[in-house]
Parts: sequence; structure tokens; C-alpha cells
Amino acid sequence: MTKPDLLLLGPYPDWDLEALAARFTLHRLAHPRERGSLPPALLPALRAIATRGETGADAALMDMLPNLEIIACYAVGTDAVDLAHARARGIRVTNTPDVLTEDVADLGIALLLATARRIVAGDAFVRSGAWAEGPFPLNTRFFGKRLGIVGLGRIGRAVARRAEGFGMRIAYCSRTAKPDVAWGWQPDPASLARESDFLIACAAGGEGTRGMINARVFEALGPQGIFVNIARGTVVDEAALLAALRTRGIAGAGLDVFLNEPRIDPAFATLDNVVLHPHNASGTVETRKAMGRLMRENLEAHFDGRPLLTPVV
Ligand code: GLV
Repeated sequence: MTKPDLLLLGPYPDWDLEALAARFTLHRLAHPRERGSLPPALLPALRAIATRGETGADAALMDMLPNLEIIACYAVGTDAVDLAHARARGIRVTNTPDVLTEDVADLGIALLLATARRIVAGDAFVRSGAWAEGPFPLNTRFFGKRLGIVGLGRIGRAVARRAEGFGMRIAYCSRTAKPDVAWGWQPDPASLARESDFLIACAAGGEGTRGMINARVFEALGPQGIFVNIARGTVVDEAALLAALRTRGIAGAGLDVFLNEPRIDPAFATLDNVVLHPHNASGTVETRKAMGRLMRENLEAHFDGRPLLTPVV
């Protein structure tokens, strides 16, 4: 049986490459913007794409591949895939929900704790020997605070469950109030921020949420407030975030996601009130193995003529 040709966008662990190679002929491309380097003779052969959340697949790439049938994302967020174009072309799209929820929520809490309790600064303080010169400055209490969750999907709910263990008062904003939870609902991020000590972004990316966390939201969060983003860089007005951090309009931020990853705005590295992480909330061996398996199972299901496990389109 001939193996279908699969274009891999972005890097994958060796265990995924080995497992995929058993079923597909693999071709590599770092990013859709390098599509011009694909050999013309290969284009009609490519029937499948595997891509990462931050890499996606745009309309221009899809249109170079006349026989493309499926785009399998190694991510829950498919905002970097042109879903409307895929739908119009009859190209299926899958993602990897559920298997990464708990790890992403763990990292959200870790970033919040690290920012509030200044864990990274404390580590530098001990390593540098500054401890011998005097005590580390006091920081802010974590347990019992008011947590605002922007976007109460699977990940937002997993963050809320963890926050309950820290005795936090939880509220959230989403388009409509969720009938199955007792947490307080607010209609928009600014009204949520006004009654929160900590604000965490867990909303899906894409045009519908672009820039929704803006200067008004940071003003409402206030000088004691801490912001965490485990969603997408696009949900934040990044210039407003940098201004709020620089002027101490908010106390600090813990950030896993940014605009223009991995070449992020260098201004972030100049700030002492941020904890930065390289878009890696699902980056544990256990979860990445589960994500790779689910991505592969979707591809295999498609080429076996079976229903997709986690279809988006
Ligand atoms: C990662 O960002 C994902 O969407 O899974």
C-alpha cells in the first residue's frame, strides 16, 4: 500500500516522527510562509498537513495543494488555521482537545503563583548571593484572592477547580453565563477585572477575541492586580499590557503566549515584574505523547475512511 504524503509544519518529537513515518511519507516545512521552497512536483501529492497551534495553515498554503484533504493540528487552538477557507475547500481539520487541559491549567496556576510570590526573582536573589546582604522584599498573598477567568471553556474550568483548592473567590466572563457553575459571571473582561485581584486569560484565539484584554481592562485590574495569559497573544492588546507593566498600572504578569512568537517584543525582557514562558503550557512528555497520538489517530481515521476522533471542520 502506498503511503499518503504528509507535510509536517513545525517541529515534532522523534517518537511522533517515527510513528507517523510508519503510515505516511513525511515532508517537512518550518512555516507556511516558507511555502515557496516546496518542490513544485510534490504539491499535487500532498494530501495531509500536520501543524502546530502557533503555526497553523493559511489559505495561500492550502491553495498550493490541490489534493489536500486534511489538516491535523497538534494543539487545541486552531485559530492559526484559516478554517473558513478549509471549510470552503472541503478540507477537514482536527485538533487535540482534552488531553492537554490539565497541564495547561497547571501552568496557568504556576505562572500566577510565580508572579505573585516572585519565585523567579527569589531564585536569582539566592543564586547571586544578595541574600547575605539583606532580606528578600515581601510579596503578595496568593490563597484566598479573587480570581477572574476570561473564557470558561475546558481550560478555564480546570483553572477554576485548582483555584478552589487555594480558597479563591472565582468569577468568569464569557458570552453568556454558564448554567452549570456557581461562580460569578461578568459580561466583559473589564467588569471582571474590576472585581478581581488576579485575571487569567483562557479564551480561544482568533478574530472574535482579538485585543479583548485592553487598556480599560488593565486599568480596572489596578496597581495590585496580576495578569496571566495561557490563551493566545492575540487576545491581549500587547502595547497596552507593556504600558501597564512599565507604569505599574498593574503589579505584574505571567505570560506563556505573545504576539510574533518566538521573536517576541524585546521590551518584555527589560521588565522586572513579569514571568515569561516560551508557549509551552502543554509541554510535558506525557501530554505531548497524548497529543501526538491523537493527531495521528485523526490522520489514520481519515485515510481509513473512519469518523474523525476530534473534528473541528
Ligand atoms: C497550544 O497553544 C494549543 O492550542 O494547544
